[in-house]
Amino acid sequence: MVTLDITKAAQFIGADVMASLKAPVAEAQKALEEGTCKGNDFLGWMHLPSSITPEFIAEVNDTARVLQQECDAVVVAGIGGSYLGARMVIDALSNSFGWLQDSKTPRILFAGNNIGEDYLSELIGYLKTVRFGIINISKSGTTTETALTFRLLRTLCEEQRGKAEAAKVIVAVTDAKRGAARITADKEGYKSFIIPDNVGGRFSVLTPVGLLPIAVAGLDIAALVKGAQDMEAQTAPEVPFEKNPAAVYAATRNALYRSGKKIEILANYQPKLHNLGEWWKQLYGESEGKDGKGIFPASVDLTTDLHSMGQWIQDGERTIFETVVSVEQPNTCLTVPSDEENLDGLNFLAGRRIDEVNKMAELGTKLAHVDGGVPNIKLSIERLDEYHIGQLIYMFERACGISGLLLGVNPFDQPGVEAYKKNMFALLGKPGYEAETEAIKSRL
Ligand code: PA5
Repeated sequence: MVTLDITKAAQFIGADVMASLKAPVAEAQKALEEGTCKGNDFLGWMHLPSSITPEFIAEVNDTARVLQQECDAVVVAGIGGSYLGARMVIDALSNSFGWLQDSKTPRILFAGNNIGEDYLSELIGYLKTVRFGIINISKSGTTTETALTFRLLRTLCEEQRGKAEAAKVIVAVTDAKRGAARITADKEGYKSFIIPDNVGGRFSVLTPVGLLPIAVAGLDIAALVKGAQDMEAQTAPEVPFEKNPAAVYAATRNALYRSGKKIEILANYQPKLHNLGEWWKQLYGESEGKDGKGIFPASVDLTTDLHSMGQWIQDGERTIFETVVSVEQPNTCLTVPSDEENLDGLNFLAGRRIDEVNKMAELGTKLAHVDGGVPNIKLSIERLDEYHIGQLIYMFERACGISGLLLGVNPFDQPGVEAYKKNMFALLGKPGYEAETEAIKSRL
């Protein structure tokens, strides 16, 4: 179960404001369900969980098994929605210290999400020492960061194994027909999976974009999907507002935004959830930040960042609210040892769980931040496992759709991300950009 507690946010919002949002939320839900909203050609994520069959999961697992058997490392090449979901799930559910992971599964590495020459050189240096495979993920099939990285990795893989053997450990996840990634996959005979046309990148973690790397990491994708399926049912339009976590979360953040809280900080108290923040920022940032509107999504890892950002959150400009993702039960048990000398003065904690200390830090921080004028939304899951992460994924996706529509924007496009690409191509002299190259010269 995902439990939502908005009591420490509601005190900053009038009861009348929350009540007045029920009708617009219901309208947004209806528009999403009936496909009458803005961006309605990208609603494939809505009933994606319930449409995933056991046969499809078996096909993904079969491909994952080949990569597991043939590779010590698998590089996931992708950027934005084409890698953040997989990274988030794998980090949340794997050993915190990657080098300690079960050697039965390959080390999962991420690339194609930057253009750092040192990053790529160092990656290649490592890959020369191991047997590696590649999952090349790009919906458009033409994203520069990913395509450039794939060219480098494919060359190395073919040098190591020969073209025919390399083709067995390269998998493409891309459009059914369009783009360079599709053309290459078909020509070279790579195993490939399709990203459905109507599922945008940031909503694609439950397609093979996320499922394949997650399965290669040895995680249970059937349980992940089951969690999402159950949340799909729990957030359906017919579920009463108060019982629908996606509806309540969307309404609460919209009410806070309208009262001047322009920044939402997603906080976690588990280092494994760092990349939940990265995935969530893309989901909400790309979906809502447009037409001069949108909550700015930020994230912090606590208690770590209480020693850096804590001052700002407690005392800075009062334009923020906080959403805390809280994990009720750790998967392990560790208690504080007693110490005869007690030089550090910590014997008052002897015999108590580390998690109890963490939970008291969480509660103390919440009370302090609320006292400091920071509304607090709490989202709890029972434990970190595939099922609960699946629930969280779908809850956030559904709430994002509702939230964007409440704001009056199209939550499913991202016209703003094209601007930098046009300039970069003009500066690099890409064929077809001659006019832009001339125009940009005068601005340098
Ligand atoms: O959410 C999105 O649509 C984007 O973040 C894309 O996922 C990202 O730009 C990568 O695009 P592509 O998968 O086409 O390479």
